[in-house]
Amino acid sequence: MKATAIANANIALVKYWGKRNEKLILPHNSSISVTLDGLKTTTTVEFSKNFHKDEFKLNGEKKSGEEAKKVSGHLALIRKMFRKKEFCRVESQNNFPSSTGLASSSSAFAALTLASVSALGFNPKPKELSIIARQGSGSASRSIFGGFVEWKKGFQAGGSDSYASELYPKEHWPDFRILACIVSEKEKKVKSRAGMKQTVETSPFYRAWLSAVEEDLRKTRKAIKEKNLELLGKTAELNCLKMHATMITTTPSIVYWQDGTLKAMAAVWQMRESGAKAFFTMDAGPQVKIICLEKDTQKIKQRMSEEGFEKIIESKPGEGAVLSNKHLF
Ligand code: DP6
Repeated sequence: MKATAIANANIALVKYWGKRNEKLILPHNSSISVTLDGLKTTTTVEFSKNFHKDEFKLNGEKKSGEEAKKVSGHLALIRKMFRKKEFCRVESQNNFPSSTGLASSSSAFAALTLASVSALGFNPKPKELSIIARQGSGSASRSIFGGFVEWKKGFQAGGSDSYASELYPKEHWPDFRILACIVSEKEKKVKSRAGMKQTVETSPFYRAWLSAVEEDLRKTRKAIKEKNLELLGKTAELNCLKMHATMITTTPSIVYWQDGTLKAMAAVWQMRESGAKAFFTMDAGPQVKIICLEKDTQKIKQRMSEEGFEKIIESKPGEGAVLSNKHLF
């Protein structure tokens, strides 16, 4: 009853922001992302009658509190779905900083879902895995798949039509790149879950966000289909700014940006003015992720390092969640 899965994080190009059902993690809007190679979580799980509670280690450190609670909540859901009773030992390793807005929950819950379900001896279709992963963390529904992915919000109260699917595989656009410029590795104060709840409840701009998102989804699907970086980048950049506008206008207001964030944004705009094809997106954290093509990465990295960014993580479209026979314990 042991299995290991590897899942890559994804970065949303059209963001998921706000839930219509918090328990089932059903979103108010659909979203589109790219799954990234090189930002991965490896998770081994083992269920056993000999365990008396769930245990969770992340990067070698035993976890308690909120993180462990989220993991055992997800395990409880999986146990219930598959009519199992055994407790579970979970070990995960991230090869990138956790909780800094690098979408670690997307890879975490995709890997946890695939590993747990497999350890229990089941082999559901990717759609079903996406529905289960979604209930651990919304963005994880997208990391089950590789390449360019859309998570349809769905309309059913129970969430049976709220799952992700692949728009295009990673091979569709192999020279697409994301350069994640690390502004700060400190854990953020307000997690996405709390941030989006507060936004739905208090931002007067939340309705405006929802009314604009369908158009962003249409443009993004077209841009990916045509491999049109300009259309994709401009749409993603504005979409992320619209999302941040809803956060900034909550009560109390949530500002994830730091000095370095604004500096990186300005650098991207300046590079664009001088003809470079560089665009940014940001999630619930200070990091700035530059959207570009492989041929421009050296130039852009050079410029960002001159601006003082020492850590830049380059990723290309990556694969979806897979099983591995290299267990962590
Ligand atoms: C800004 O998936 O972390 O990264 O469903 O509450 O676990 P929960 O939230 P989470 O939120 C991700 C928000 C985002 C945008 C996105 O990835 O679409």
